[in-house]
Amino acid sequence: MDPADYDAWYDTPRGRWVGDAEFDLASRLLDAKPGDSLLDVGCGTGWFTRRLAGMKLQATGLDPDPDWLAYARAHSDRAIRWVEGDARRLPFPDSSFDHVLSIAALCFVEDERQAVAEIVRVARRRFVIGWLNRTSLLYREKGRGGGSGAYRSARWHTAAELRAFFAGLPVRDLKLRSAIYLPSGTKLARGIEKFVPSVLPLGGMLLVAGEKIS
Ligand SMILES: C[S@@+](CC[C@H](N)C(=O)[O-])C[C@H]1O[C@@H](n2cnc3c(N)ncnc32)[C@H](O)[C@@H]1O
Repeated sequence: MDPADYDAWYDTPRGRWVGDAEFDLASRLLDAKPGDSLLDVGCGTGWFTRRLAGMKLQATGLDPDPDWLAYARAHSDRAIRWVEGDARRLPFPDSSFDHVLSIAALCFVEDERQAVAEIVRVARRRFVIGWLNRTSLLYREKGRGGGSGAYRSARWHTAAELRAFFAGLPVRDLKLRSAIYLPSGTKLARGIEKFVPSVLPLGGMLLVAGEKIS
């Protein structure tokens, strides 16, 4: 997929709603303060990275795709650092970033467990990782049969599968939260979404947040 087309989706009414809902939930769970450092793993075009940098975080975006990184670099201010790399072997020392975020990226990575271990390794304080939820209406619409568009060849998980990725890692206070329950994004769907508690693990996006034990 072309990075400009992908990023333009965030400017459509539905894309803006999905992005905002995921961003609001992820940033609440990260609980970052101005001046904190943050790594966005699988940053793609940098939509989340840019917004987090806008909250005065020292942001770094990492992605293996040079074209997507070039798009991200060209559409952001110079304070953001962009690094080409792979989630399975993050090119940073242990505990390098106060916070690590990853949204809808590990579902495209072979050996997600290794990528989760790497995210925990480079985090100093908190991490938030967002996955596609197999127990959701979004999966029924976009995931079945191999998926389509930006969802093509993504893996979709259950909450139990996600919890299992963290077994044996130095983490505590794991929380599972969800968003995008009614993926049509109509006015009614958006209205209903406001009243659904994010602890209900049935939204299209499942986020696992936690704290690193150092
Ligand atoms: C659907 S995009 C998500 C981009 C961005 N996080 C967002 O939510 O807008 C998936 C991203 O995962 C990246 N990705 C694929 N394999 C990866 C790997 N091994 N390590 C890190 N990122 C990877 C892709 O290059 C792509 O940018």
